[in-house]
Amino acid sequence: MPDITHEAAYRAHTNIALIKYWGKRNPELFLPVTSSLSLTLDAFYTETRIQFSPDYTRDTLYLNHKQMEADEMAHISHFVDLFRQEAGVQAACQINSINHVPTAAGLASSASAFAALGSACNTALGLNMDAQQLSTFVRQGSGSASRSVHGGFVLWHRGEGDVSSSSFTEQIDDANWDIGMLVVAVNTEVKPFSSRAGMQHTVETSPFYQQWPAEVEKDLALMLEAIEAQDFTTMGEISEHNAMKMHATMLAAKPSFTYFQGESILAMHLVQKLRREGLECYYTMDAGPNVKVLCRQSDMAHIKAAFAIHFKPDQLIEAKPGPGPEAIQWKEAN
Ligand code: ADP
Ligand code: DP6
Ligand code: CO
Repeated sequence: MPDITHEAAYRAHTNIALIKYWGKRNPELFLPVTSSLSLTLDAFYTETRIQFSPDYTRDTLYLNHKQMEADEMAHISHFVDLFRQEAGVQAACQINSINHVPTAAGLASSASAFAALGSACNTALGLNMDAQQLSTFVRQGSGSASRSVHGGFVLWHRGEGDVSSSSFTEQIDDANWDIGMLVVAVNTEVKPFSSRAGMQHTVETSPFYQQWPAEVEKDLALMLEAIEAQDFTTMGEISEHNAMKMHATMLAAKPSFTYFQGESILAMHLVQKLRREGLECYYTMDAGPNVKVLCRQSDMAHIKAAFAIHFKPDQLIEAKPGPGPEAIQWKEAN
């Protein structure tokens, strides 16, 4: 048995952006071009345990019981280094992680993954960082993970210049007022290009990207007002429009690409039809083919029933606002 000196396990939930993060101004520090805003979801999460031991010769990570390859492991080690440096610890680590969310399918596994891993590092190494500081560390694993450090509606501030500590997240509202999200799982296989590669290619080649930061600034200001007023209609309209503007930047990239698949379009058309029929709901999409339908929790059953005509039961997952990271007891049976 290795001599474990530091250990902790955490559960963290995914989040879906209503105002998207799309583009880094500093890729090394994961500093975003714009601020963004998300909803943390209860239905999808990652559970991660980290153990540090002087007996380990190198870092390892088992994701869903499968050992991570060396190229991806380099990013994990670099991420854990941030915490090791802060704590003055040099020991290597073993990480075990289980995704209760499809991995790399555009359902934000990188968000729950790095929020869980960062929270576990924080506790295991006795760092006692508060959520704001932790978000600036977690951001450097995956940008969207910085928002999973809180529950409810979360604002990620873009921050200033190359100052890492200025780009943090905060909860702006607990979202406990009849907010729901129906996730339409069109395809949960690993996507052909990661969020990181997709956004970088777009920033570098899409002429439409020039317009993106100004659109986000306008949308975010209106979204903050709408949340404050609990104005569901305005929230929905802005988030749908913001998502489609992001996807338009990808269509204009060179070479052009899209995360849409046939059934993604079908799901979006269904949302529009439901709206025409008086059932209010709005769609958003991320770096993957799956569609998320923002709705009132009290309308969820009706909306799901309408989708059930076109999609199988296991493709329709009901989500509510979720919490921030929680410490857990790690079960070896995991
Ligand atoms: P997603 O839409 O799922 O966030 P991304 O392309 O942003 O997709 O990120 C997927 C990558 O995140 C995976 O290829 C893997 O490198 C990393 N990842 C996902 N889950 C975990 C996990 N539990 N622990 C460590 N890394 C993870
Ligand atoms: C479309 O946070 O997964 O989901 O920072 O490179 O790890 P990296 O990318 P990631 O990108 C998320 C992009 C998005 C929009 C969003 O979540 O805001
Ligand atoms: Co991601």
